[in-house]
Amino acid sequence: MKRVVSGVKPTGDPTLGNYIGAMKRWGEMSRDPEREHFFFVPNLHALNVRPDPEELHRLTRSAVAWLVACGVDHDHSYIFAQSQIPAHSELTWILNNYTTIGELNRMTQFKDKSLKQGPEGQLVGLYDYPVLMAADILLYDADEVPVGDDQKQHVELTRDIATRFNNLHGETFKVPQPTVQTEGARIMDLQDPTKKMSKSDDDLSGCILLMDDDKAIERKIMRAVTDSGSQVTAAADKPAVTNLLVIYSVLSGRPITELEEAYAGRGYGDFKRDLAELAVHALKPLRHSHEQLMREGNDKIDKALEHGWWRASELANAKLGEVKEKLGLI
Ligand code: TYM
Repeated sequence: MKRVVSGVKPTGDPTLGNYIGAMKRWGEMSRDPEREHFFFVPNLHALNVRPDPEELHRLTRSAVAWLVACGVDHDHSYIFAQSQIPAHSELTWILNNYTTIGELNRMTQFKDKSLKQGPEGQLVGLYDYPVLMAADILLYDADEVPVGDDQKQHVELTRDIATRFNNLHGETFKVPQPTVQTEGARIMDLQDPTKKMSKSDDDLSGCILLMDDDKAIERKIMRAVTDSGSQVTAAADKPAVTNLLVIYSVLSGRPITELEEAYAGRGYGDFKRDLAELAVHALKPLRHSHEQLMREGNDKIDKALEHGWWRASELANAKLGEVKEKLGLI
């Protein structure tokens, strides 16, 4: 049976970008009986921002609740937290010896941070992050890794690490395939359409959180920047309107060309009002379901984590055992 592995980091509340680029699709695919799905919360990955421990704990459980709220079927697929399975850390140490400094230097996420603040003060945990991500994927012999555009480079590095290890020690790891959807793989900030919508931004005025109430969603969309002109069309010189059209299209299931026709000659105001209504309507049930799961006394999150931990540790421990044996590790 094919395996699918992916995760959402608990460094903040998930955004509309996380939902459109990844979590919505995870919810839809998780019921496919032809595949085994693992959706996990990479809480070890979150340590490189030195989170407050209580907040990390809350965000990790909250991320599990968001996965369930987005439709991930926790009976037929597996949800777990990375820190429940020590094999992730152990395989990372091993794979560090199959990854070069040159490769990590080329990772755009690290380069971006180093450009802004210089490489010297950056943490090793941030630098080594892609190797931990490779371990996350390779432990489970994943065939597919459904991610947004920004994570594609990390999955490609994972492929290189797996191939290198296999060449040296014989077939050990499955070489995974990143699967990136054609529309919505990179949702941009509503205030700055040259920048990815991100939960770790200081300024969240252009970022819709799944937590946001109806009023906040409406306000952020109505205040979203637009481009010059007044036509609602997708074009290279209209990044802001194109981004809004992509969001509209994914949330409504209507192709962009149909939306362009529907709004021909009607201007940005009408379009934004309808989009705000659509987004409020689409996100409300997720928020309510999340709220219910987080309510005290609801043990669904613990049950999901236990079920996921059981299957994930079975696979991860077997794979780590195989690797250690090949390397002569007692
Ligand atoms: P994270 O938590 O940043 O994002 C989770 C998923 O959401 C996608 N995404 C977006 N898609 C479209 N538009 C956006 N603005 C947007 N922002 C985020 C991401 O591409 C991702 O698919 N390193 C990963 C977590 C991770 C992981 C893994 C993923 C750790 N180990 C192993 C897959 C396999 C991350 O930080 O995702």
